[in-house]
Amino acid sequence: MSSAIRRALLFMPGDDRKKIEKASSLGVDSVIMDLEDGVALNNKPAARETVAHALREVSFGRSERLVRLNPTSQIDWCEEDFDHTIAGRPDGYVLPKVESAADIATVDGWLTTAEQVHGWPHGSIALIAIVETALGVVNLREIAGAAKRLQALAFGAEDLAGDMGATRTLEGWEGFYARSAVVTYAKAFGLQALDTPFIDVKADESLLVNDAERAMQMGYTGKLAIHPRQILPLQQVFTPTAAQIDRARRLIAEHDAQQAAGVGVFTFEGKMVDMPMIRAAQSVLSRARAAGIRV
Ligand code: COA
Ligand code: MG
Repeated sequence: MSSAIRRALLFMPGDDRKKIEKASSLGVDSVIMDLEDGVALNNKPAARETVAHALREVSFGRSERLVRLNPTSQIDWCEEDFDHTIAGRPDGYVLPKVESAADIATVDGWLTTAEQVHGWPHGSIALIAIVETALGVVNLREIAGAAKRLQALAFGAEDLAGDMGATRTLEGWEGFYARSAVVTYAKAFGLQALDTPFIDVKADESLLVNDAERAMQMGYTGKLAIHPRQILPLQQVFTPTAAQIDRARRLIAEHDAQQAAGVGVFTFEGKMVDMPMIRAAQSVLSRARAAGIRV
């Protein structure tokens, strides 16, 4: 099953109908209505009702409708979140603090049953796993291969720092191993990789853009977002520019010509080119196509 384009995924608290409605009008790739850490403990039941209503009543346009559950370590909450929202047929669920294949299997099982009961195509509701604990990072291999409907791995730097007793910094070196591991395992298993949110909502936009560009350079194809003003810069960073697309096309054309002449390695704009650079150019074109650009 091909995955939706997810360059920016905007979170909002599930008990905030106003923010949900606002999010639905912003043209963001994905909207994530949160039932986990963005909702106060005493407001979880109200949040479930608000999200259930929003799924039925709000038109989200081209935006994907996602719901973040509580983690399976809080199985009663997690199951209640699911039971209250599934009838609204969200496009997918985001499962936080995933630490094992069993965590994925639990929600995958509920989804399979729900799809049967409602007569929806098997596997049509997506799952995204957030890896944000030390154990989750250590178990990435089993997590990444845990279910067919798993479409993406997301990296959560704040929770990971809390779990590890690390200190968050702007550069993020404290989480670099995990950030690297999440994208590597995602790619090894054919999944999308989504980067941690940039939580300084008042910071200069250039800081967000630098952070997102670093993720993009590592192979991430999207980033979680927490404020409307983050959407446009993120969707831009994760969409190849016209110049990048043009260069990729010319590189591939040159490669085809060289191959036809029996030449495997050549120089292009002064640099050596062989197959890895061709694959990178193809990946630029496929990201452009995913963003709706004709290449
Ligand atoms: N989704 C939708 N709308 C949002 C939004 C979001 N995540 N964040 C802010 N807005 C709206 C506000 O409601 C406000 O709308 P208005 O102008 O129509 O009144 C407008 O955008 C400007 O918001 P602003 O005043 O700059 O932010 P704030 O101080 O109201 O809120 C946060 C700051 C961080 C509390 C808010 O951005 C937020 O709730 N973010 C998501 C947090 C979350 O879900 N965390 C869990 C996952 S990490
Ligand atoms: Mg978290």
